[in-house]
Amino acid sequence: MTTNEFPAGAGDWSSLIADLAADRAGELFPTSPAAVPDRETAREFRLDGGELQTIIDRLPADFARTSVPAEASGAIPGHSSAGADPFQNGFRPLVAPLAAAPGGWDAQAIHRDFPILSEKVDGKNLVWLDNGATTQKPRQVIDRLVYFYEHENSNIHRSAHTLAARASDAFEKARGTVAGFIGAPSAENIVFVRGATEGVNLVASACRSRQKPGDEIIVSHLEQHANIVPWQLACQETGAVLKVIPVTDRGELRLDEYGRLLGPRTKMVAVAQVSNVLGAIVPVREIVQAAKRYGALTLIDGAQSAAHLPVNMAELDCDFFVFSGHKVYGPTGIGVLYGRREALEIMPPYQSGGNMIADVTFGRTLYQPPPARFEAGTADIAGAVGLGAALEYLSALGMAAVSLHEAELAAYAGEALRRVNGLRLVGEPPERTGVFSFVIDGVADEAVSGRLRAAGVAVRVGHHCAQPIHRRFSLERSVRASLGVYNTREEIDFLVSLLRNLR
Ligand code: ALA
Repeated sequence: MTTNEFPAGAGDWSSLIADLAADRAGELFPTSPAAVPDRETAREFRLDGGELQTIIDRLPADFARTSVPAEASGAIPGHSSAGADPFQNGFRPLVAPLAAAPGGWDAQAIHRDFPILSEKVDGKNLVWLDNGATTQKPRQVIDRLVYFYEHENSNIHRSAHTLAARASDAFEKARGTVAGFIGAPSAENIVFVRGATEGVNLVASACRSRQKPGDEIIVSHLEQHANIVPWQLACQETGAVLKVIPVTDRGELRLDEYGRLLGPRTKMVAVAQVSNVLGAIVPVREIVQAAKRYGALTLIDGAQSAAHLPVNMAELDCDFFVFSGHKVYGPTGIGVLYGRREALEIMPPYQSGGNMIADVTFGRTLYQPPPARFEAGTADIAGAVGLGAALEYLSALGMAAVSLHEAELAAYAGEALRRVNGLRLVGEPPERTGVFSFVIDGVADEAVSGRLRAAGVAVRVGHHCAQPIHRRFSLERSVRASLGVYNTREEIDFLVSLLRNLR
């Protein structure tokens, strides 16, 4: 068999995964032994269960958290009975903010790390509250990019000279850093892509060869367009059907409805871990566990979570996880697709060209194993290296401390915004990050953003690439303030003082 003929028709994804678990990967996609890279194994996520539990025990009862079922195995109670909520019992916190960094959270030092935050914008001090759209870059990332171009720049994995070795080492080291940051078992689970959007497109595209009319793909009402449209395109091509998990008026996913949507036809469940409009934290672990009972694959969009909550692939147990470098204080143009080994092994190439092949003749092509199979052409090498530096920066702060800081700031911001006369928050999810979308009665969004811009405050205005969830709340657009590591209570006070004076 030639490896450019993928075994379409060899069964659905679940049976292929079973085949692969039984070690048939080599038969399905033979690769040249020499092509298998010897990559550094990812270090373990730095929080073990005991450490995590100790810190969870110290949390205030009302702290933002996601939940997982206490019993990860066994049938979901009441799964098939109408009206039953399969998730109501036995929750325990999974993603939880931990203790502050040793020595406490040094807001001023963090602020100094980000040169652009000292920039005067139209003569005003910049207040960056558009972190949901992109984050600013610390000096450590900027310096790493400069160092790469001054001392290491080369194409990778192909040339026989010193700079090629330096660049290849830096690129692969960054892959290991990503794996460690998200608790992936190995650097080989990490595919570098352009961003979360490309990660979803890659998986949606690869899945098409396995889908048939009547198969079902489940997304939620909270998704950004990048986690809707690729699945719609897949459905148009294959005859699969898109199903949508509804949300409550507060913006929580209706898990009871999700239980009813799941079934033997479900082939893929793709949901965001954090809504980019509501800031709602979605209980993705339960969603994954329920999907697995039907043999469905799962994709988590981590675009709005990876920089704000500790994420760990062993805990989440999903097949795929995507996030963007520029939303985790890294460069634009680089992002990550994590894939479980068995899931990546069965996926056909997304794009083809150099780097992803092991051997080419005009009669057939042998492909590299993942992750190289999905990295055709020259990667954003410097971007990957810069992303590695960004994740090292976040790790040095400690994701526990980051999530604690942002949860406290989000609680403060939520209270302050609710006190602004005429301001309506879009959704009030009980478990949330620091993403706040709002409208002010009688004041046009442009007037709000214009007032804020004139004062140096950067927010996003519009539909935030998520029209369905806006329409769920009878809106076409909103103003969004979204928090990051460098934001402070003083900045929230400033934002609120500007909003108060608008009406
Ligand atoms: N990047 C988009 C946002 O701002 C989706 O949330």
